[in-house]
Amino acid sequence: MKIIRIFDTTLRDGEQSPGATMSVEEKVQIAKQLAKLNVDIIEAGFPIASQGDFEAVKRIAEEVRGISVCGLSRAVYGDIDRVGEAIKNTDRGIIHIFLATSDIHLKHKLKIDRAAALDTAIQSVKYARKYTDTIEFTAEDATRSDWDYLCKVTEAVIDAGASTVNMPDTVGYTVPFEYGELIEYLMNKVPNIDKAVISVHCHNDLGLAVANSLSAVLKGAGQVECTINGIGERAGNASLEEIVMAIKTRQKYFSVDTKVNTREIYRTSRLVSKITGMRVQPNKAIVGDNAFAHEAGIHQDGILKERSTYEILKPEEVGIPQSKLVLGKHSGRHAFKERLKELGYEFSDDEDFNKAFDKFKELADQKKSVFDEDIETILTGYIIDSCDTYCLKSMHVICGTQQKHVARVAITVRGEEKEFESYGDGPVDSTYNAIVKLTGTDSTLKKYEVKSITGGTDALGEVVVTLEKNGRVVNGTGSDTDIIVASAKAYINALNKLEERKRIAQRGI
Ligand code: KIV
Ligand code: ZN
Repeated sequence: MKIIRIFDTTLRDGEQSPGATMSVEEKVQIAKQLAKLNVDIIEAGFPIASQGDFEAVKRIAEEVRGISVCGLSRAVYGDIDRVGEAIKNTDRGIIHIFLATSDIHLKHKLKIDRAAALDTAIQSVKYARKYTDTIEFTAEDATRSDWDYLCKVTEAVIDAGASTVNMPDTVGYTVPFEYGELIEYLMNKVPNIDKAVISVHCHNDLGLAVANSLSAVLKGAGQVECTINGIGERAGNASLEEIVMAIKTRQKYFSVDTKVNTREIYRTSRLVSKITGMRVQPNKAIVGDNAFAHEAGIHQDGILKERSTYEILKPEEVGIPQSKLVLGKHSGRHAFKERLKELGYEFSDDEDFNKAFDKFKELADQKKSVFDEDIETILTGYIIDSCDTYCLKSMHVICGTQQKHVARVAITVRGEEKEFESYGDGPVDSTYNAIVKLTGTDSTLKKYEVKSITGGTDALGEVVVTLEKNGRVVNGTGSDTDIIVASAKAYINALNKLEERKRIAQRGI
């Protein structure tokens, strides 16, 4: 059966979702999980855009084995050199060059004509071949381009050495039937199309990204670009989990398959959501909290009699944990290790395992039962709480009905310890006032959300805050059994991300 390549762009296009900035370490963690999910290609960043993106592509290419790693580049030699440098230590590196082909982009954005764009496309692909044989060329805004011109560019870049030609619906404008026709047109009209794979990359502005991608697959596309939870620029990209599960569930119809290990889908979705601070809507297909919840009496009755009456796929197929084995303070190393293994986490390093076990013990002392979700939070906490510019050291807050609310917070700023005491309208307000004084931030708090990760009053609380500064928006997350501590962690996590964004902006891309 034909295998459709899954090209994951969570770390590049996904990161373009407002607020979803990820640190290099966070990207590496997600990439390792994407490798377990067994996607074919990870697009890890846009190296010319920032040092962070460069390092993410480089580190993922070097550290995440058995998977192809791609870096994005404009059709500009300097960009290509930067990707070439990032992937130089792997033989699985891909240079992904994009150049617009629609008249709208050529006239208003690039201010060049079709002939000049064609020439730039050819020269850039030829130039990139000095670094690798695996080159993807994207005809940006393909769906609003003239089809015959698109065929001409496609033929030329394949001749120049592109092994994949991507036809993105950059602005989410196309509809399934039309997009399928475009792919069919290219298959029929581009004489050397058999020398390359056609890739599709759809945005969800009209809510059609998944449907458009699947329509293209039916007409011969061999690669789908998508993101976990469908995150991405504006309304997002086609959601990986929906594409993969549609192909798997309706395999007879599509007559194709993917290599994705679907049992890793749920875990990957949770990790991406935690790291980016972008919560998954409850009714989201495949990974939403309600995706397998049956509410109506008639449905529940049907499910009890025979699952297939109302369920087209099984939760376990996407890795939704079935047994909720609960650990507690009497659980030892062995039980903890076994549960980690069942959840798909294995530590090659004893030191890392010991750190996780200590955190588990600390948590088990604070709350009666430790659930799978708590364990996941412990494990992602390492990454999220990592101290870049700012690091929370300690805090003490007094609140209640009688006294003034006061928070004493100690943090380090680039390694130097500072402490401040502040008043406020409540415990979160006084804590945030102290952090504002300590960091001198003038960002605006746009959103503050708190939710408990599991049930019970002793549950871990998870806080997501959205900060904005000079048009830059970032999400920060933090978890703790004490929601005020979780709030402080989330605020500091967001401030660290703003600092990272500032560094990116200084590069001017
Ligand atoms: O949407 C788009 O056109 C892109 C390309 C750079 C692939 O993200
Ligand atoms: Zn895109």
